[in-house]
Amino acid sequence: MDFKLEYADNRSNARAGTITTDHGSITTPIFMPVGTVASVKAVHIHELKEDIEAQIILGNTYHLYLRPGLGILQQAGGLHKFNGWDRPILTDSGGFQVFSLSDNRKLTEEGAHFRSHIDGSKHLFTPENVVDTQRIIGSDIMMALDECTPGQADYNYAKKSLALTQRWLERGWKHFNETEGLYGYRQTFFPIVQGCVYPDLRREAAKHVAGLGADGNAIGGLAVGEPTEKMYEMIEVVNEILPKEKPRYLMGVGTPANILEGIERGVDMFDCVMPTRNGRNGMLFTRNGIMNMRNKKWADDFSPLDEYGTSFVDHHYSKAYVRHLFISDEILAMQIASVHNLAFYIWLTQEARRQIIAGNFKSWKDEMIKRVTYRL
Ligand code: GUN
Repeated sequence: MDFKLEYADNRSNARAGTITTDHGSITTPIFMPVGTVASVKAVHIHELKEDIEAQIILGNTYHLYLRPGLGILQQAGGLHKFNGWDRPILTDSGGFQVFSLSDNRKLTEEGAHFRSHIDGSKHLFTPENVVDTQRIIGSDIMMALDECTPGQADYNYAKKSLALTQRWLERGWKHFNETEGLYGYRQTFFPIVQGCVYPDLRREAAKHVAGLGADGNAIGGLAVGEPTEKMYEMIEVVNEILPKEKPRYLMGVGTPANILEGIERGVDMFDCVMPTRNGRNGMLFTRNGIMNMRNKKWADDFSPLDEYGTSFVDHHYSKAYVRHLFISDEILAMQIASVHNLAFYIWLTQEARRQIIAGNFKSWKDEMIKRVTYRL
């Protein structure tokens, strides 16, 4: 994997670049739709490519390991062949999902012990075997096994948790460098900075991560219960240390405003379930604000779903029609909302890129923050 930093904003830390992988290139800043179980929920691959213009999607080690399982993925020839997405894929390592989904999980020096949320069966993720699993999945970018420290953890817990994440990282990085991909294309490995809301821990974690010299680096453990201002402060602390010439990925964040603030602070890659999950509940993000499609005010509004939207659904369907679909619990409502929200998130990051290149990012961002947080 290669990263070319093309433009750096001179009034903020925002930057524009291009990541090149063996499955194609990615222009940053970029939003990456979440495709947990090998599907971006309710969205066809064709829509992702042609309408939403997604450049990279996520998969998840925890989910894919449990279902369909490694045997099927290997027989298929990897995830790209299995789901038909031939552009880049990034996979999370599974540690985060062990914590959010599984019962009876326990961390030891060895790894994360857990029971499947599907059938209760017992499993162990180690820093080494999540690399092996991501080799079988065949993601272009794989993630290290980490503990996502909760946002309210006290200092002592956060310090111990970081130390474990760092020991796991050394093991995972070593194993990554001693193994090879199965399908003939290159895979890379991103370490993850933890450290909760404590600047000294974050600095130590960022130095350790930067010292590995990976192709890109991730910031984890944010948007997990800490105040938003703390999140922004931690991004600043960490990005002062993470190398400028490598892409930076802020995991699991966030609202459109969070993403703009992250871009301003030098983040290049984002993912979040919000556009798809909130979309399925009727929440639509637009450049003029947030719409709740169940609201009665849309009942007789026959104007396009989003006159500024970039996707097919924005111009083909009216607000009144989409409201009717939500009120009637039609599956199509969820499909339309998912396509719209993903196209909006990708437009937002790619418009930020255009504004960075034009030297206009800061004023555009200040105006856009007001707009995207407005309730329509
Ligand atoms: N997704 C959101 N936050 C995190 C994190 O801290 N670690 C991992 N592995 N995945 C995440």
